[in-house]
Amino acid sequence: MDHFLYKNGILHAEDVPLPLIAEQVGTPVYIYSRATLERHAQVFQDALAALPKKHIAFAIKANPNIAVLKVLAKQGFGADVVSGGEVARAVAAGMKPEDIVFSGVGKTRGEMEYALSVGVGQFNLELEEEGFALAEIAVSMGKTANATLRVNPDVDAGTHAKISTGKKENKFGVAIDEANGIFDRLGGTAGIALRGLSCHIGSQLFDLGPMEAAYGRVGAKVAELRGAGHVIDRVDLGGGLGVPYERDKVPPSPAVYGKMVERATRGWDVTLMFEPGRVIVGNAGVLLTKVIWVKPGAVRPYIIVDAAMNDLARPAMYDAWHDFEAVQPTGERMVANIAGPVCESGDTFAMGRDIDRVASGDLGIFRTAGAYGATMASTYNSRALVPEVMVDGDKFAVVAERIAPETIIAAEHVPDFLND
Ligand code: LLP
Repeated sequence: MDHFLYKNGILHAEDVPLPLIAEQVGTPVYIYSRATLERHAQVFQDALAALPKKHIAFAIKANPNIAVLKVLAKQGFGADVVSGGEVARAVAAGMKPEDIVFSGVGKTRGEMEYALSVGVGQFNLELEEEGFALAEIAVSMGKTANATLRVNPDVDAGTHAKISTGKKENKFGVAIDEANGIFDRLGGTAGIALRGLSCHIGSQLFDLGPMEAAYGRVGAKVAELRGAGHVIDRVDLGGGLGVPYERDKVPPSPAVYGKMVERATRGWDVTLMFEPGRVIVGNAGVLLTKVIWVKPGAVRPYIIVDAAMNDLARPAMYDAWHDFEAVQPTGERMVANIAGPVCESGDTFAMGRDIDRVASGDLGIFRTAGAYGATMASTYNSRALVPEVMVDGDKFAVVAERIAPETIIAAEHVPDFLND
């Protein structure tokens, strides 16, 4: 459930009519609903309520806006981060350093040092050598880094190839069979406390089967490692739960996921850690856009909107579906293609879609744009960096400004040697 609903024929974010935001902030613009963020956070927490020891770390990569993080920090969420920049964001949003989990396949020594200086609670290791580097840095700082080893359970998550991570040919984690040797060699090394395992098999998952299979393999490995004398007190189960981009394709609910986790992890006796991203923020955001032209096409009309692939990359990158709706629908429908102004044929949001009839100047939204939306935006074609707004009841505020091309041009320099 979200709070983007029609009132008197006009689409609102909570109590704010979207035309008001378009008028005051301009388009394209991302709009987040605080009430929806809080609701999703609560639903996820409720789904895991029966688990005795747990930690929920929001995967910041899905939406790193500081205001969004602040809402989730207030709900008690920690953060799953993958770069020094994300560590800085989590801290800036008021998340406790000990609640931050540092994932990522290529943490640099500089990033590890920075994260240790901040007091980050856990590092999810991607390879043995990283563990030794982390231990060495920690020793030099007089610290001990808590860590888990990310294992690759070799399951097919059944999602888009570009967002699958748990097959053996993917770049993530170590083969699960190698975990024993790595624990033997790294466990007991000064500067590192290797305390468990982590896994994440992919994103936008609709089938809990592969997740349950992966968790089963991780559970068996926990037992094996304990049998070999290692102390295991935490397991990070990653993120991945899908969201309904298309209304008739509904993923398993957080409650059903929670039941599966209870079943799959019974008897593990560890702190279970979760890294949800999309399921928390996906439906808490929309991308508001204005129709520039309705261009008669050879086959069907092209609705040319002022949002483009640089603002919302998912359709171009993953052939992703985002529902399109008019902000003030007339009740009439049309079949059209929807595209942005960028000079690439791939800058297309929908082809041959049955949508609300729109005309030039009308406003529309792409739904489920709160996850992997603004954060993946660029300034391609020298377009502005898209702004973000948060709504709270009848109030709204710009939480990320539009960055004009002029500002970006000002950061570029023509070297002296070109000035002759
Ligand atoms: N934990 C790890 C280690 C991850 O790699 C990811 C996502 C998550 C948690 C959060 O997954 P979620 O709960 O959001 O599914 N840009 C793509 C998605 C990339 C996901 C990368 N990793 C998209 O727009 O679909």
